[in-house]
Amino acid sequence: MKTLILASLASLIVTAIAAPAHSQATDAAPGERLFQQRCGACHQLATTRNGVGPHLQGVIGRSAGSIEGFKYSPALKGAGVTWTPETLETFLTSPGAMVRGTRMTQRFNNAEERRAIIEFLGSH
Ligand code: HEC
Repeated sequence: MKTLILASLASLIVTAIAAPAHSQATDAAPGERLFQQRCGACHQLATTRNGVGPHLQGVIGRSAGSIEGFKYSPALKGAGVTWTPETLETFLTSPGAMVRGTRMTQRFNNAEERRAIIEFLGSH
């Protein structure tokens, strides 16, 4: 009985995961969906509201640690980095390796996803 419930739960989850992947082909901006999934819990893009992380509106061309009212780590504040597609690529691959002591600790290992997300950030 327990196995049966687990099995149907698993198939429900598979369906839920498979559905958006299927519609990806027609998705004009896969980066938007990826941004929501990978970054959206901590970062806003559509508004200038800060959350766990600073908002990312206009992030390309911005100096690291420059959003007024967001309490950055001293590490990021003093990083002396300007966000470009290249520096974002390095940061997302391993934030702590680029800015030792940053409070953003997630690494994003999938190069395709990083590229799509950075492209999406560049369009905002
Ligand atoms: C669990 C929360 C969390 C997630 C998920 C997350 N971040 Fe962050 N991010 C942070 C925090 C916190 C900071 C501030 C770090 C600091 O002050 O050292 C930050 C900082 C940044 C910065 C520097 C912004 C600035 O103003 O200098 C960029 C760029 C960034 N994140 C991009 C992303 C992207 C893109 C993703 C998704 C691929 C992502 N983050 C996912 C929490 C997160």
